[in-house]
Amino acid sequence: MLGLVGLLLCLTPADALTAFPPKFQVGKLNGDVVVKCNTSEQRVTWTQNGEPEPMAEFVAKGQTLTILGLDLPAAGNYSCWAGTVLLDTTYVVVSGTREEGMNISCQAESYHGSFRCSWNGPRSAVFRARLTRSDGSLGKWVPAAGRHGWFSASFADPSFCPFAEELRPLQLQLEGLSDTSYLNFSIQFFIRDIVRPKTHRRI
Ligand SMILES: *[C@@H]1O[C@H](CO)[C@@H](O)[C@H](O)[C@H]1NC(C)=O
Ligand SMILES: *[C@@H]1O[C@H](CO)[C@@H](O)[C@H](O)[C@H]1NC(C)=O
Ligand SMILES: *[C@@H]1O[C@H](CO)[C@@H](O)[C@H](O)[C@H]1NC(C)=O
Ligand SMILES: *[C@@H]1O[C@H](CO)[C@@H](O)[C@H](O)[C@H]1NC(C)=O
Repeated sequence: MLGLVGLLLCLTPADALTAFPPKFQVGKLNGDVVVKCNTSEQRVTWTQNGEPEPMAEFVAKGQTLTILGLDLPAAGNYSCWAGTVLLDTTYVVVSGTREEGMNISCQAESYHGSFRCSWNGPRSAVFRARLTRSDGSLGKWVPAAGRHGWFSASFADPSFCPFAEELRPLQLQLEGLSDTSYLNFSIQFFIRDIVRPKTHRRI
């Protein structure tokens, strides 16, 4: 019984992400990725998903670790250490191989410039989203709430004016990280096209 539990734990590919990691790096499948340790320490050691750096596909030199020929098992959490002191952590993923369309739907309940978007994605993924507002300025990344593969986030465009015609569409960029891969896409729309006021129920 204990042996079985141990086996299942060992098969877990990478730590499941619970939040968007502060630092991540996207590499191409079979390409090389250089991970930098942000430190002034001259000598660092590396772990991948908590395991000491193994094997020959990695070249550690000074403050950098080069992953040669990135594949899915090489994705995950790379941390650099000075002895037992954690210095820096970078989450490494493979760029999305399939560019499939996503079901993003956005809805505003009024012409006040705030709205909510939802979409579906891999259950294990974490997402964040960012708005380029109608005046061209770039908003902050907003973490998305996720449940059973459905994600959503709320936004506001303070530069939106309900009395003037929108000349430029808003652009919403979504970034997602699953255990091993990176998803990136964006949509453009006008708020006037997504306003669906709550209507009174017909009697
Ligand atoms: C590196 O670390 C310094 C100090 O902690 C921080 O100010 C800086 O933003 C970091 N740079 C990167 C690229 O993470
Ligand atoms: C990565 O590993 C470090 C060190 O073990 C840990 O502090 C951090 O929370 C991990 N990050 C993720 C996203 O799993
Ligand atoms: C989009 O949503 C529809 C209905 O909910 C579903 O049938 C379809 O598979 C979804 N497409 C993607 C790419 O997830
Ligand atoms: C994600 O896509 C945007 C364009 O929509 C691009 O500017 C950005 O560099 C992409 N990010 C990565 C990490 O590929």
